[in-house]
Amino acid sequence: MVAFFRFLRLNIPLVTLTGVLSHSNLIENLAPVLTEVQKQKTLRKAVILAGGEGTRLRPLTNGIPKPMLPVLNHPFLEHTIRYLTKYGITEVILALSYLPDIITDYFGDGRRLGVQLHYTLEDSPLGTAGAVKNAGEYLDSTFLVLNGDIYTDLDIAAMFDFHRKRKAKATIALTWVDNPCAFGVVESDRTGRIKRFIEKPAPAEVTTNWINAGVYILEPGVLQQVPDNTHYMFERGLFPRLLELGEPMCGYQFRGQWLDMGTPEKYLCLNCDLLLSDNRPGFIGRPGENGLYCAKNAVIHASARIDGPAVIASRSRIGPRVHIRGPVVIGPDCTIGAGAVLDTTVLWRGVTIGEGAVLKKCVIGNDTEIQPRERVIDCVIPPSGAGQTGK
Ligand code: GTP
Repeated sequence: MVAFFRFLRLNIPLVTLTGVLSHSNLIENLAPVLTEVQKQKTLRKAVILAGGEGTRLRPLTNGIPKPMLPVLNHPFLEHTIRYLTKYGITEVILALSYLPDIITDYFGDGRRLGVQLHYTLEDSPLGTAGAVKNAGEYLDSTFLVLNGDIYTDLDIAAMFDFHRKRKAKATIALTWVDNPCAFGVVESDRTGRIKRFIEKPAPAEVTTNWINAGVYILEPGVLQQVPDNTHYMFERGLFPRLLELGEPMCGYQFRGQWLDMGTPEKYLCLNCDLLLSDNRPGFIGRPGENGLYCAKNAVIHASARIDGPAVIASRSRIGPRVHIRGPVVIGPDCTIGAGAVLDTTVLWRGVTIGEGAVLKKCVIGNDTEIQPRERVIDCVIPPSGAGQTGK
């Protein structure tokens, strides 16, 4: 029996599931992007901030750092690194603090993904800017910084071009949101020069809907303003400081896809959006009939009904009369019992779904079991063995 207290409510407005779908197709855009980057060889380095505890994603992050949560069955960080390599980034520094071994063990030296990886480790989290300062030994030319929980199709080459033309010391990618009250709002003038930051404004304080997207291009010199070995943030520390000093700082507005997967709702939403959009990562392969991406050694009973899009990973077994209503992601080694229904749901590795169970809008962690005929709606279940608190 799955204890009720392990569930978190997931009230996902369906509109957000389709909210990011209507934008450009990254894969179609790659050819011109690569040509552009090859001309501008200097943006080769990126720092990915991957050291946060991901408290809003607990209990999913109790035993796994947020950037390692599986998205379409691959660690999210893998999607991010692949995205960077498409833009000519060859050297990536992963700034780690929380559960670092899980990340270093998986990625190693990065060769498999075509990048050179470096790792920096903070004994206690240094904050976003403090973490980049901690990686200073690798940062001797213009570099990119990316929050490790952001999914975007932002054109990095175009942003770099913008940064160079304006001779900025720091350029912040800005994305437009309907309600900016939960975000860092950034005011800029017509030329792109940043005028003001307002962190989490009250509704009456909102003067623009452009928010900090968590992607920056920085000149190494700005790190002189960040104290050593001290918790220090970009949003409340370095950026306001650069503004005070009158340093050229610009906002690069873009209207492509952008989603931070910082909460369970957004995590599920990201998996679903990727499956529903044309912008799917190459490594899930090509869809078969009914939008089904199925590993060769998965077993699907002839009487199962699959309304895609759905991904079914290696060695998973789909029983008789199962109904899958996409978007659905089924991780490796899962077993779906006869007559079960899965709707808008993500299963991680080794999940067992009992006969006749019904799951809707759920995220189910590794090695867990749903009892026969159980109804599980709007829920998150952590991996088996993950406690309720971190580390
Ligand atoms: P919450 O606790 O749910 O807010 O998540 P978080 O800890 O990941 O914080 P947040 O979402 O604000 O962080 C944005 C990005 O910066 C994430 O990719 C984090 O991993 C990363 N990050 C946040 N704080 C630190 C830090 O102190 N050190 C490092 N290396 N990365 C950090």
